[in-house]
Amino acid sequence: MKPIRKAVFPVAGLGTRFLPATKAMPKEMLPIVDKPLIQYAVEEAVAAGITDLIFITGRNKRAIEDHFDRQPELESELIAKEKADMLALVRHVIPSHVNCIYIRQGSPLGLGHAVLCAEPAVGNEPFVVILADDLIDAETAVTRQLVDAAHSNNGSIVAVQTVAAQDTDKYGIISGTAVNSSTTRVESIVEKPSPETAPSLNAVVGRYVLEPEIFACLRQTQPGKGGEIQLTDGIALLMQQKPVFGHTYEGLRYDCGSKEGFFQATVAYGKKYHGFE
Ligand code: UTP
Repeated sequence: MKPIRKAVFPVAGLGTRFLPATKAMPKEMLPIVDKPLIQYAVEEAVAAGITDLIFITGRNKRAIEDHFDRQPELESELIAKEKADMLALVRHVIPSHVNCIYIRQGSPLGLGHAVLCAEPAVGNEPFVVILADDLIDAETAVTRQLVDAAHSNNGSIVAVQTVAAQDTDKYGIISGTAVNSSTTRVESIVEKPSPETAPSLNAVVGRYVLEPEIFACLRQTQPGKGGEIQLTDGIALLMQQKPVFGHTYEGLRYDCGSKEGFFQATVAYGKKYHGFE
């Protein structure tokens, strides 16, 4: 498999579960303690050797572009006030060797459609997809774990976690044949099945390594659950021509797209990284 250099961050969703906070502000800019969710996601990508960050944006997402841009007035002010620590934080939001590319998703037609919007910037190479609202605390960045798994299995990878039976209808669920203790060759993938129809308890969470053939598959994908073009349905088509693996990652995930997960992440990161009790 070719080197994996590009990451796609779909950030064009409406974030309705956080209204009114997300009325004028992107969900991905909500902070866990002192860093916005999207910055954790970007740091994870950079730790995995990614050099091109492709943001799929929508309405009200300008704050994300501003966050990853230089802020000369703030920098001058911090220099004048001799706040060197703060200056370093502001200047090093992303390393200088990393490029940011912004593509607009005209209307939020679904995660699959958002990923398809990245095609002109991704081209014909494998790439990573990171959903910033799945915050994963891991010793080795989960994106790094997935990139390594993609190279060793020579195929696309979805990050997998076991979920409770009553939660299958919140996730894409896979089933297949075990390759080793952490990897399964995916034979079926379904979006948000009810607990009665779910093929397993192995749920896909917000990290993927995809081969570029996914774009042709997404172009053929019809609106599915919720009337949206689902990435899960595109992956189901991809599986018919290329191998797709589920990889059980090591790390602790917080579903920061839900209020409960966001609260748990705030408490855990506050304690672990900032010493709050
Ligand atoms: P979610 O299902 O969490 O939807 O999308 P959402 O709109 O962000 O949030 P709620 O459910 O209304 O509260 C999963 C990911 O896919 C992106 C979202 O930004 C999020 O990162 N997404 C979703 C898009 O970029 N475009 C879409 O059309 C849909």
